[in-house]
Amino acid sequence: MFMYPRRAIRIAIAATTLALSAGAPPADAVSARQSSQPRVIEVVARRYAFEPAQVEVVAGEPVRIMVRSGDGLHGFSVPKLRIKKEIPRGETVAIELTADTPGEFPILCSEFCGDGHEEMKGLLIVKTRPAKGQ
Ligand code: CUA
Repeated sequence: MFMYPRRAIRIAIAATTLALSAGAPPADAVSARQSSQPRVIEVVARRYAFEPAQVEVVAGEPVRIMVRSGDGLHGFSVPKLRIKKEIPRGETVAIELTADTPGEFPILCSEFCGDGHEEMKGLLIVKTRPAKGQ
């Protein structure tokens, strides 16, 4: 019957203790934290369009929509999801969103920005979450 030398076992235990006390998180804790970070989607608002005009997310997926004004004041509004943010001149505004319901939700500019304001529209598409295991 094979036996590890007593001294080798003691060294292995010491190395494990050192790794834990150094504050290195276990590998699975790191990946869990990364997957809970929202996906970042960048949108530019400028007279008189959102670019891209269509934003696609998956139901239940946390996203952070970074809306930047490419010129003056605009608004980013998704009335059906009760989202309405001012996008001041030259600024970027972060909008955190986790859409629960699949569907298509119009995006509107909610601040008067000129002659084409009423035409300034986009579409948020919330896709059905794929079944587990796909
Ligand atoms: Cu852009 Cu109103």
